[in-house]
Amino acid sequence: MKNILDMKEMVELIRTLTNMYAHGWDERNGGNVSMMLDEKTLKDYLDLGKVLRTIPTGFEAKELEGKYFLVTGTGKYFKNVQYAPEENLGIVRLVDGGKNAELLWGYEGGGKFTSEFPAHMMSHVARLGVDPENRIVMHCHPSNLLAMTYVHDLDEKSFTRTLWQMCTECIVVFPDGVNVLPWMLCGTNEIGEATAEKMKTARLVVWSQHGIYGAGKDLDETFGLIETAEKAAEIYMKIAHLPRVNTITDDEMHQLEKRFGIKGREGYLD
Ligand code: 13P
Ligand code: ZN
Repeated sequence: MKNILDMKEMVELIRTLTNMYAHGWDERNGGNVSMMLDEKTLKDYLDLGKVLRTIPTGFEAKELEGKYFLVTGTGKYFKNVQYAPEENLGIVRLVDGGKNAELLWGYEGGGKFTSEFPAHMMSHVARLGVDPENRIVMHCHPSNLLAMTYVHDLDEKSFTRTLWQMCTECIVVFPDGVNVLPWMLCGTNEIGEATAEKMKTARLVVWSQHGIYGAGKDLDETFGLIETAEKAAEIYMKIAHLPRVNTITDDEMHQLEKRFGIKGREGYLD
């Protein structure tokens, strides 16, 4: 058996969580990340017949039966993951139609997966329906996106258009835009279902007055998606109180669509 801490996916996740903390997106235990793993890869690192504990999930996700996930633990601080991955992370296999998670590695000392496990698993199902290559769901609390939900209207078209206007390459990075949920109680199946519904049409979902969810095929892509939206929100928060003299026009957005071979969300540009 190879050492699980040398697995490429594990190394990349630990580096990414450390970087997320460094960006100020994950104060205290804020944020959570889940990564779908291939059985083929995992079997070189773990005895997949050895279940350490079975943890009920509190929801059903038949589509994820037998799937493996590397997931951050609830209450765990991203800043500590690199020093004690086996306490702060876990690898689980979903069984019984998603109603139970078999722990194969991690959560040492009695921990369990993030309280946002429903939103993660339901979002994986939703994104896999749109993009079979999707592997990552990432949640965090970036300051400017969060701030923006206090001062900008929450209409998705309007919110998306504002972000697109803040940096030239935004429309290229997230042409499907940003979907927005109103304030909802976190950690529940309800917010999980609402997030997954929003994930069907965009890879970014803002949780008003809380944070953001991103999804993508790998950690770099998903991190970059949130990083770009957060940068745009930062520009917005720097200029929102000033008179707007210039902007990126819809005509210029259409030039970007042509140049980069992308298409902005239907109906969002004039
Ligand atoms: P967990 O510590 O349970 O992952 O919760 C953090 C969080 O950001 C809740 O939305
Ligand atoms: Zn959160």
